[in-house]
Amino acid sequence: MTIKNTPRRRHVHGRTKGGKLSPRKQNLCDELLPQLRVSIPERENTLAPCDLFASKPAKTWLEIGFGGGEHLAWQAAQNPDIGLVGCEPFLNGTAKLLVAIDEQSLSNVRIHDDDAVEILEALAPQSIDRLFLLHPDPWPKKRHHKRRFINQRNLDLLAKVLKPGCELRFASDIPHYVAWTLKHMAMRTDFVWTAQCANDWRTRPVDWPATRYGQKALREGRPPAHLRFVKV
Ligand SMILES: C[S@@+](CC[C@H](N)C(=O)[O-])C[C@H]1O[C@@H](n2cnc3c(N)ncnc32)[C@H](O)[C@@H]1O
Repeated sequence: MTIKNTPRRRHVHGRTKGGKLSPRKQNLCDELLPQLRVSIPERENTLAPCDLFASKPAKTWLEIGFGGGEHLAWQAAQNPDIGLVGCEPFLNGTAKLLVAIDEQSLSNVRIHDDDAVEILEALAPQSIDRLFLLHPDPWPKKRHHKRRFINQRNLDLLAKVLKPGCELRFASDIPHYVAWTLKHMAMRTDFVWTAQCANDWRTRPVDWPATRYGQKALREGRPPAHLRFVKV
C-alpha cells in the first residue's frame, strides 16, 4: 500500500467562509468542533467510520454538503443508534450544525469540515450504510458542469464506500442536474434507480426531511426530485 505524501487535490469550488460568526458559534467552532472533527488517515481505504464513535454503531450514514445541517441533525436525533458523518467545507454551515448538536445533545455526529472527496478516498470499502447528497451546487453554466459533484470519478468513490443493498439519496430542484445525474447513473452497473413511477421521485419520503435549499426551491415553485439509488 502506498503512503500518501503529496497534497490532495481539492474539489471545493464554492465559498468556505461567510460572515463573522456570533460569539456562541465561534466558541462552538473553537471548543466542540475539534472534538467532533474526523481525522483523515494518511493511507487510503483505511478509515472505519464506526471507530469514530465511542458506541461503535453497527451502521454509519454519510451526508455530503450538509449546508446548515438541518437534515443531518434531524436524522441524528431520529436515529440515535446510527453514526452520522457530515462533510461541509462552509464554516458558517458547520457552525450552524454545531448549535443543533449542542442544543439537542447529539452524541452520534462527526464532522469533516472540508472536501467530501478526502473522506471518501480514506473510507474503507463497503463501510457506509447510507449516503446523502442533497441539493448539491448546481453549477448551471455549461463551462462549470465539470465542477458538479456527480461525475464518474466521484460515483466510483460512492460505489466503493457504500455497502451492497444500501441507498444513495440524491435531491435536486434543478431539472438539468436531475437529468445529468440520471444520465451518469444509467452508465453504471453498480447502482440501480429504485423508482417505479413518477410519484416515487416526486414525493419526498417521510424519513427524508426537506433541507433549507429544498424548502427554498418549493417556495420558489421548483419542486425537487428525490432520487434513490441502491448499490448492487
Ligand atoms: C447548494 S448547498 C446545499 C446545502 C444542503 N445540502 C441543503 O440542501 O440545504 C451545497 C453545499 O455543498 C457544499 N459542498 C460543495 N462542494 C463540496 C465538497 N466537495 N464536499 C463537501 N461539501 C461540498 C457547499 O459548501 C454547500 O454547503
